Amino acid sequence: MVAILILAAGQGKRMVSDLPKILHPVGGKPMIHHVIDAALEVQTIEPSSQTVVIISPELKKETVQGGRAVHSALQTNPLGTGDAVKIGLNVLSEVPQTVLILYGDTPLLEANFLRAVIEHHKMHPAPCLTVVGMRPEIPGAYGRIVANEAGQINRIVEYRDASKEEREISLCNSGIMVADGALLKKLVLQISPQNEAGEYYLTDVVALARKEGIDSWVVELPVEGLLGVNTRIDLAAAEGIMQHRWRRRFMEQGVTLIDPKSTFFSYDTIIGKDVTISPNVTFGLGVTIGDNVRILPGCHIEKSTLGQGVTVGPFAHLREGVVLGDHVCIGNFVEVKSTTIGSYTKAKHLTYLGNATIGENVNIGAGTITCNHNGFVKSQTWIKDGAYIGSNSCLVAPVSIGLGAIVAAGSVVNTDIPDEALGIARQRQENKLKWATQFRARYK
Ligand code: UD1
Ligand code: CA
Repeated sequence: MVAILILAAGQGKRMVSDLPKILHPVGGKPMIHHVIDAALEVQTIEPSSQTVVIISPELKKETVQGGRAVHSALQTNPLGTGDAVKIGLNVLSEVPQTVLILYGDTPLLEANFLRAVIEHHKMHPAPCLTVVGMRPEIPGAYGRIVANEAGQINRIVEYRDASKEEREISLCNSGIMVADGALLKKLVLQISPQNEAGEYYLTDVVALARKEGIDSWVVELPVEGLLGVNTRIDLAAAEGIMQHRWRRRFMEQGVTLIDPKSTFFSYDTIIGKDVTISPNVTFGLGVTIGDNVRILPGCHIEKSTLGQGVTVGPFAHLREGVVLGDHVCIGNFVEVKSTTIGSYTKAKHLTYLGNATIGENVNIGAGTITCNHNGFVKSQTWIKDGAYIGSNSCLVAPVSIGLGAIVAAGSVVNTDIPDEALGIARQRQENKLKWATQFRARYK
């Protein structure tokens, strides 16, 4: 059996946040869920494996699990990573053959790398330990791995306990470790908190193993998958790497990004083929985009589904619950929320559409507003197929505009308009002849 332990009970003080560190999102998904999802992917190829997340009393089990099939174990006091592993091992029903240890604050982990690490571990004679090392450009406060040329580790030293020479070592501890279960179970009991932090360091198991003549091996992986998030600065770096990955993936799948670095995705963004995305576009959670869509500059889109051949922007805001049929056109300074729009309908300028059901081939004139909120409740607007809404109209919901009906520009519509009718709701115009000439003469 392979057991995967994910340590997530630390305090995360360096984030300076009321939100526990591991719940801070990267690409719209809490860090811990990135790690759990990678673990669950590893599980699919390791028969009878299980994952345990070690959490603190401040964390709700349900929040951490987020509906995922993992166990949890409670670490009441954050006594250190060594203590957390001991607690995790204790909740397992049997001593696992192999244990994979992950940290909940490393959201960039990828399952294929983790599988490779397990394979690498199995290559060395058991019992042994395998530690994933990396060489970050700025090694900062990572633990340093003291190893020989052959990759055998002597010990891991935490930055705060390291000598000046040890701090010069470029090989850093990523936190990922693979160990034989029985060995690890024995070693964690021997860890003592005699260090600068007064914590039970998991990393001490390497030196403890060596005392018993047992080898630990380092396997080096690219730092892009291993970054540990301790501060908001690390969080931004992790977000940057994640976005970079997704930009590449979408471009490989046939999406044109005019300026990849100013295009931001969420973990669940789905985009079709031959879509072009202009600069400064952000996709929040829950966006699905069909083929041949064009997103023009400066748009924010979330919880929305766009059909084929849709155009959005520049500077449009699709907020939530938006469904756009094929070839819909949403233009500049248009905000849409909780609204379904049929195919070929256009709302090209300066409009708010909220809580509306809009048919096909509708033309929404510039400055149209659905007045959907009376200060207490939201009401619905229905605009049927082929209707034409003149510019600067207010549609006071609940209200319905019939099939093919026309709303005269500047109307405040608070009564349903029948099919094919003209709804006009404004003062009749009066022209005062020669008034302008006389007015000017008076002031000359
Ligand atoms: C740890 C490693 C360090 C490594 C770095 C990689 C140790 C002693 N140090 O340092 O060598 O370079 O990660 O990112 O392991 N946690 C618990 N219970 C605790 C303490 C921590 O569950 O009592 C969890 C945290 O929630 C976190 C993870 O363990 O997810 C790592 O803890 P953290 O305090 O961030 O360790 P680092 O100082 O980053
Ligand atoms: Ca960390």
